Amino acid sequence: MAVIYGGISNEREVSLKSGLGVCKALTEKGYNVIALEYDNHQQLIKQLLADKPDFAYIALHGRYGEDGRVQSLLELLNIPYVGSGVLASSLAMNKSLSKKHFALAGIKVAKELIVKPDEINLNRELIINKIINIFSFPIVIKPNQEGSTIGLTIAYDKQQLLEGLNTAVNFDSEILVEEYIKGVEITVAVLGTGDDIQALPVIEIVPKNSHYDYESKYAPGGSEHIIPARISKENTIIAQDWAIKAHKALGCETYSRVDFIVPEGQQPVILEINTLPGMTPTSLFPDAAKSIGLEYPDMLDRIIKIAKK
Ligand code: DAL
Ligand code: MG
Repeated sequence: MAVIYGGISNEREVSLKSGLGVCKALTEKGYNVIALEYDNHQQLIKQLLADKPDFAYIALHGRYGEDGRVQSLLELLNIPYVGSGVLASSLAMNKSLSKKHFALAGIKVAKELIVKPDEINLNRELIINKIINIFSFPIVIKPNQEGSTIGLTIAYDKQQLLEGLNTAVNFDSEILVEEYIKGVEITVAVLGTGDDIQALPVIEIVPKNSHYDYESKYAPGGSEHIIPARISKENTIIAQDWAIKAHKALGCETYSRVDFIVPEGQQPVILEINTLPGMTPTSLFPDAAKSIGLEYPDMLDRIIKIAKK
């Protein structure tokens, strides 16, 4: 079995941690592991052709790994793999497109506007005024296709809004502008494919910083994970139901992790679905699994069994 990790996305560092964790645990479990760390695609293709693995565990995150491209390569090489297929992976990486599917499935989404870099270059003042007419501060600006909150800004005034747009254009050709939703950050790990899908206990995320940014995600002690989340029973049921609906709406397979914000006294609002959620020592999915008695190596074993079904 090949464990593919590293890659060339902005989440490479996260993937290196996920990949090492997965390699170690699967080796302990008795799998014959080929550790396939790469930093250019030619190298990955050459290694896959030379090693001819009979299965691939994809421990990549972000562009070129979580977005359907590596999945497509594996399909062409006839190598089965864990996680979602090409279409679901691509859709999930595109936050705006996936939100349209979530809304159709009856899941609450945040109000948004897509801005193109050309619009900013052409008339900065016009686009800023358009945004301010639609949203009130604070306003969230993020690359439409990125992970781990890379390139994200929460703007409290016009100047920060402009800076946020200038930051986000470095990461994507589409910028997603959204209303800021104040509330409890929660996430739901999902396991399964087709009709046999299970939502794990809801995790509440308490970041040490003002929001769950890159540092809170990956620095040891950067955030606290509380299981079960301190939200109402009703919202817990809704979050688990919507996580499964989101997974199904995009046609996701094997596993995923769905992030929400729960505003005080209201239903959860979905932020996004992660088709290859982080598997680092500080990651959420392994914590959710642990809460139902599935330790990291057994969780991976389960994921692989689901993928091979
Ligand atoms: N995008 C990171 C890896 C996560 O969702 O866990
Ligand atoms: Mg993500």
